[in-house]
Amino acid sequence: MSTLNVRVWRGTESGHYEDFEVPRLESQTVLDVVSHIQRKLDPTLSYRYACRVGMCGSCAMTVNGKARWTCRTHVSKVAQGERLEIGPLRNLPVVKDLVTDMAPFFDKWAAAKGQFKGTATRKDDFARVSPESAERKLADEAIECIGCGVCYSSCDVVAWNPAYLGPAALNRAWTLANDVRDVEQSARLAAVAGDAGCHACHTQMTCTERCPKFLTPTKSIAGLKRLVLSAAVKGEL
Ligand code: SF4
Ligand code: SF4
Ligand code: FES
Repeated sequence: MSTLNVRVWRGTESGHYEDFEVPRLESQTVLDVVSHIQRKLDPTLSYRYACRVGMCGSCAMTVNGKARWTCRTHVSKVAQGERLEIGPLRNLPVVKDLVTDMAPFFDKWAAAKGQFKGTATRKDDFARVSPESAERKLADEAIECIGCGVCYSSCDVVAWNPAYLGPAALNRAWTLANDVRDVEQSARLAAVAGDAGCHACHTQMTCTERCPKFLTPTKSIAGLKRLVLSAAVKGEL
């Protein structure tokens, strides 16, 4: 049986990489490798996952220099000469080892008004939005975000400007901007129009290249820029 040489980050913001040898298995994922280390070699290793099937968004880590969802990343696709280097996501505080504090990430969703706000009560009938409507199609393109943080961790603008709302929060704002039932549209546009909002994006596309759900936050951000400009021209901002 061959062996993988795995370097894993230990510590918080300061720390060091520690070396482990892990048996190489067929169809092995990066999450399998981390789980093997924690279960068989060092139970003090901290990491996070839940679903193992690409739904919960909790297993993202930096693997050989790039942010990835580890439960759906096969070792065969990313190992360089049977070597793996696994660290926490960038652009977020490190709690311990491979676990980052996601609070700043989700705080920015809230700051971008990423919560749905409607007016219907339980006495109202279901709202009907045609799947063929232009708004529904635009919302559909961006709605499958699992909140994994891969795009946020990969964005250089977030690294340069920690106040920047980032691709995931802005992608969410764009989804809601196309939700015809939502009544917070003006406040949402104002929230994403500031210095740390959509205009801070440099359109480098890293978020779109790396999103494991094949979403296009760059396109969503471009849509928000158009909406903000249109509202500004009409004097609504
Ligand atoms: S396109 Fe914009 S949000 Fe996406 S990685 Fe580049 S700067 Fe960040
Ligand atoms: S947009 Fe993609 S990469 Fe970013 S948090 Fe959502 S699923 Fe993850
Ligand atoms: S463990 Fe849920 S997405 Fe990877």
